[in-house]
Amino acid sequence: MRTILITGATDGLGKELARRLAAAGDRVIVHGRDPERVRRARERAGGLTEGILADLSELRQVERMASEVLDRFDRLDVLVNNAGVGGGRPFSGRQESADGIELRFAVNYLAGYHLTRRLIPLLVASAPSRVVNVASAGQQAIDFADPMLTEGYGRQRAYSQSKLAQIMFTFDLAEELAGTGVTVNALHPATFMNTSMVREAMVPPISSVGQGAEAVLRLVDELDGVTGRYFDQRRESRADVQAYDLEARKRLRHLSDDLVRRALS
Ligand SMILES: NC(=O)c1ccc[n+]([C@@H]2O[C@H](COP(=O)([O-])OP(=O)(O)OC[C@H]3O[C@@H](n4cnc5c(N)ncnc54)[C@H](OP(=O)(O)O)[C@@H]3O)[C@@H](O)[C@H]2O)c1
Repeated sequence: MRTILITGATDGLGKELARRLAAAGDRVIVHGRDPERVRRARERAGGLTEGILADLSELRQVERMASEVLDRFDRLDVLVNNAGVGGGRPFSGRQESADGIELRFAVNYLAGYHLTRRLIPLLVASAPSRVVNVASAGQQAIDFADPMLTEGYGRQRAYSQSKLAQIMFTFDLAEELAGTGVTVNALHPATFMNTSMVREAMVPPISSVGQGAEAVLRLVDELDGVTGRYFDQRRESRADVQAYDLEARKRLRHLSDDLVRRALS
């Protein structure tokens, strides 16, 4: 039986993934930030599930969650970094995390960066294992002169930078873990699924969570040995050009390690 951790499994795509994987006989670790929402997601999933709590907008909680996973579970076959904050309501302003980091960068990217890094020993010990990063086709190059978007903030820009950062991390980590039996891939699950983040942004949905779940499950269940790729739904695709810029990836790594170190010190 595989053990699969899904972040943001209390709503939308993550909740649907938890349901499908639990129904298929996997042990699913349902992550959320609210105990009642985790309880409800587990109830809906049925099967064998466990719950874990952390608000991903605070790196100390991410750190504690990682330690808890390492304490409670003796293996981890798949980590799905799915939790995310969307574009938000039209005309909403810039937001920061508890650590003073631009909110979408913090939740969509940096939390998954730190969680994954902390869980590498368990993933390697459980190999063959997988990391699946739920990114997006909405990508925009990171402005390293102002990565926290203190000037010229746009909610869509913030979202798109965070999603590209996830893909850059995917490519880096796949290289780092080559030969360990841990694969790392990213994808755009589906366009404008009918989920809370899309409804909040007042965008008319054009896909179902089922369509997104099928694209993610392909990376969870199939494509053995495939690593370091970005998929647009089921099709391998090219990400924004910055994702292939080794210097930009190095800058992102340094920025991330620095932000994590400062938040946890
Ligand atoms: N919807 C789309 O069309 C679309 C397209 C491309 C990519 N994606 C990506 O797909 C993923 C899932 O999105 P979705 O559409 O399913 O969104 P959703 O229905 O809004 O669900 C988002 C999930 O993330 C969790 N989350 C948000 N902020 C969090 C925080 N600070 N700490 C812990 N958990 C937090 C939410 O928890 P709560 O239940 O507590 O709110 C929820 O479980 C995201 O990464 C998104 O960027 C979505």
